[in-house]
Amino acid sequence: MVQLLPALVALALLLVRPVADAAMAKYTFTVGSMQISQLCSSTSIIAVNGQLPGPSIEVNEGDDVAVKVVNNSPYNVTIHWHGVLQLMTPWADGPSMVTQCPIQPSSSYTYRFSVPGQEGTLWWHAHSSFLRATVYGAFIIRPRRGNAYPFPAPDKEVPIVLGNRCRSCIVSHSLLVIEDTKKSLTFSCLWMRLSCHEQASGGTAM
Ligand SMILES: *[C@@H]1O[C@H](CO)[C@@H](O)[C@H](O)[C@H]1NC(C)=O
Repeated sequence: MVQLLPALVALALLLVRPVADAAMAKYTFTVGSMQISQLCSSTSIIAVNGQLPGPSIEVNEGDDVAVKVVNNSPYNVTIHWHGVLQLMTPWADGPSMVTQCPIQPSSSYTYRFSVPGQEGTLWWHAHSSFLRATVYGAFIIRPRRGNAYPFPAPDKEVPIVLGNRCRSCIVSHSLLVIEDTKKSLTFSCLWMRLSCHEQASGGTAM
């Protein structure tokens, strides 16, 4: 019962939330290969919309989100919305072979979920094999329209997504979002690390 309480509270929030000011945020993520030139070499990687990091998702608390993922890569792929609570939509969480079958090459799938009762700086990333090393981006949930930030309103926001590479592979990445207010600098940071078989052979981090 104790474990059920947060879920019940969330459910209550979901049911009473005003829907009038919620918007539908629609994105299309095309997963495919792109060339990058870094560390004195050109490499083909898999990325979203030809961008590394991938596109930022920017929504307001309570919005509905629909992301159509078109898989033009030769690999199975899924996307995990890291930190999104997925209230009532566990099937949209993204772990490959856990909450869904992967999106196979030349097919597509639309993730649909809402972000009620949540604000903050999150991120999304592939949740299938090594693709998570290059298939990622920021997921920013701002306060509901008309609501204040829980800290002094920033004058400017600068999402910074950090990626680490050794010579021939990408080993880790993190998302750092700096919110610059007149009085304070706050940031949130998430990171993950993947093993790199060439790390020992003198790769340079950047
Ligand atoms: C790709 O995903 C399908 C299910 O969607 C699965 O049957 C198949 O084994 C997967 N292929 C690989 C190489 O993991």
